[in-house]
This record gives sequence, structure tokens and C-alpha cells, in this order.
Amino acid sequence: MNVAIVLAAGKGTRFDSIFPKQIAELNGKTIVEYSLDIVESLAGIEMTILVIDPVYETIFKEITRKYTKRIELCPGGATRQQSVYKALEQLNELIEKKEETNVLIHDSARPFAHMVFQRVLNKLIAFQAVVPIVKTKDTIYVIKDKQVVEIPCRDHLYNVQTPQGFSFQRIYDCHKLALKKGRTDFTDDGSLYSTFQKNQPVIVDGDQLNFKITDKQDILLAEYYLSNQTTN
Ligand code: CTP
Ligand code: MG
Repeated sequence: MNVAIVLAAGKGTRFDSIFPKQIAELNGKTIVEYSLDIVESLAGIEMTILVIDPVYETIFKEITRKYTKRIELCPGGATRQQSVYKALEQLNELIEKKEETNVLIHDSARPFAHMVFQRVLNKLIAFQAVVPIVKTKDTIYVIKDKQVVEIPCRDHLYNVQTPQGFSFQRIYDCHKLALKKGRTDFTDDGSLYSTFQKNQPVIVDGDQLNFKITDKQDILLAEYYLSNQTTN
């Protein structure tokens, strides 16, 4: 069984709005709905754990009413990692065949993830950890105290996207280990996995269009993309 964990419990500090970005509207629907629509359309995914900030529970309940696939709401944690852990704990209570379950962990702030979802899902048939990446376009400087301290070779730099797919038991065990070590600050599950597992995740191609809505400018980019899609 494949389960989507859709993360929508963040505060959206960089988005700088009264409401978190995942419930902001983009072309007539909320950003989180784009991810829920993808899951609804993919035959390989059976259910969703939607991780939310309980303050907005009424809004999320209203949003999820229209879907036919099972969606379980789960209260999030203080960090992204803690939100994922809470979802994994809830899922652990819900499922019986844990060894046969995979999870696809996704940032709801990435509305255009359809192709990447399908790719990760396909790869999960044969692998236990799958992470989508795109080559970094810019040169990256590492700066500390306003000083350039490192310029890593761009040929080896990639941006990491979601959804990231894992066998449930493996990623759940890794999350438990991370907490035991006092870590709550991993910003993606692939890096948490590779810290606590000997084998590295398998990489697949991500998609430049699967960008994350982080600030208000990204909404303009998303609107531009959507308006071009309908006129083409
Ligand atoms: N997220 C979450 N729980 C948290 C923090 C983040 O579920 N405690 C989710 C966000 O809702 C988002 C995804 O993780 O879909 C990626 O996080 P990010 O883009 O950093 O979103 P926010 O944390 O909400 O934004 P910011 O960092 O600007 O506050
Ligand atoms: Mg954040």
C-alpha cells in the first residue's frame, strides 16, 4: 500500500501573510488542494495523512470534503521533521501490513508535483528510499559572518524536491533514531534517512516546475505558469 503524507502544518513565515501559504489561493483553489488533487488522481496511492496546524482544522475539514479517497487529518509539530514524525506515528496506528507499506512524503507548498509523484511511485516498486533532485542552476557561495567561506563545485550540487518515497518501516525507524539523538531540525527526510541508514536513497529526476512556494514572488511565478498552461 502507498500512503501520501502531505505536510501542511507550517507557519509560512517567509510568505509573510496572515494565513499560512498552503491555504492561500492560486487560480481559484488553495495551494494544498493541488497536492490533494494529485493524490486523488493517482491510482497507486490509497490514502493520505494530511498534517495540519489544528488552528485551521475547520478550513482543512472543508477543503478535504470533496475527495473520495481517505484523508486522515493529523496535528503537526514545531518543525517539519516533527510534523513528519507525528504523521508516521498516526499511520503506525492505522495500518496492519507495515512491511508492505510505502510513504510518499510531500510538501503541500509544491503544487506542480504530478510528474514527480508518478516517477517516485514507480521507483518505489524496486527501491526503499527515493529522492527527486534537480541540478542547481546557480553557483552557490557558503557565507558565514558576511565572509565567503566556501564555493562548492556546482557540478556536484543538486536541489532536493518532494515527494520523497520510503518504505514505511525504514523511515519510521530512522525518525525514531533521529529523535533519540536529539535531532529535530532535518529539513528533508532523505537527509535524515541517509544519516541513520547505511545505504543512500536512490535519486530520480525532479522537475524545475515542481518548485516550492516560499514567498509572495513564487505566487506570481505559479500564476504565470498556470496562465500559460491554459492558453497553450
Ligand atoms: N511544515 C509542516 N510543519 C512544520 C513546518 C513545515 O508541516 N512545523 C510543512 C510546510 O507546511 C510546507 C513544508 O513543510 O508544506 C515545507 O516547509 P517550508 O516551505 O519551510 O514551509 P513553512 O515552514 O510553512 O515556511 P517558513 O519556513 O517560511 O516558515
Ligand atoms: Mg519552514
